[in-house]
Amino acid sequence: MNMQNVHVIEHPLVQHKISLMRDANTGSKEFRELVSETAMLMSYEATRNLPLKEVEIKTPRHYTKSKVISGYKMALIPILRGGLPMAEGVSKLIPTVKIGHVGAFREPSTGETVKYYAKFPADINERHAIIVDTMLATGGAGVLTANELKKVGVKDIKYMCLIASPEGLEALTSAHPDIDIYCCCIDKGLDENNYIVPGLGDAGDRIFGTK
Ligand code: URA
Repeated sequence: MNMQNVHVIEHPLVQHKISLMRDANTGSKEFRELVSETAMLMSYEATRNLPLKEVEIKTPRHYTKSKVISGYKMALIPILRGGLPMAEGVSKLIPTVKIGHVGAFREPSTGETVKYYAKFPADINERHAIIVDTMLATGGAGVLTANELKKVGVKDIKYMCLIASPEGLEALTSAHPDIDIYCCCIDKGLDENNYIVPGLGDAGDRIFGTK
């Protein structure tokens, strides 16, 4: 597997929050907040390359040159459902971001990932996209989402998840070797139901309290 584009965020605040999320005793409200906060922290790494330009600013006492982000339009693409609180967290730091959504499910008879929803901002082809999902498990939804974005002309795509499996990383890096992947942990692998082991369970159910 080509790990060159895989970035594991080992910051202590991020690792601490992951442990709280792994804990089966963490309830839905806290879990949802942790997902959002962790994504916000992760976006520090995923946005390191944003271009800056110098502007002149008048402080209350002086003029000075200072830097602002310039000419970089972004889109966040949460994969339903787990990506939703991640998009909420990142958009607190980047309020001008536009948000698209992708929903996919795994067809049990074929194992194929099937899209049931995709809606992107009208100017998506002019934007730099960050796909957000809690778990990179089989990689099916991540690969499908990147395919959909490339079909509509997006050239720069990043992928952010909380926990990745080696299988998911293999699938995403081989289908899309141009994508930088940001995660907090790489776990052991998938179980027979395609859940990540040890993982944190079903992220969608834990976020929305549906189980
Ligand atoms: N989706 C989840 O929510 N959890 C997993 O472990 C794998 C996929």
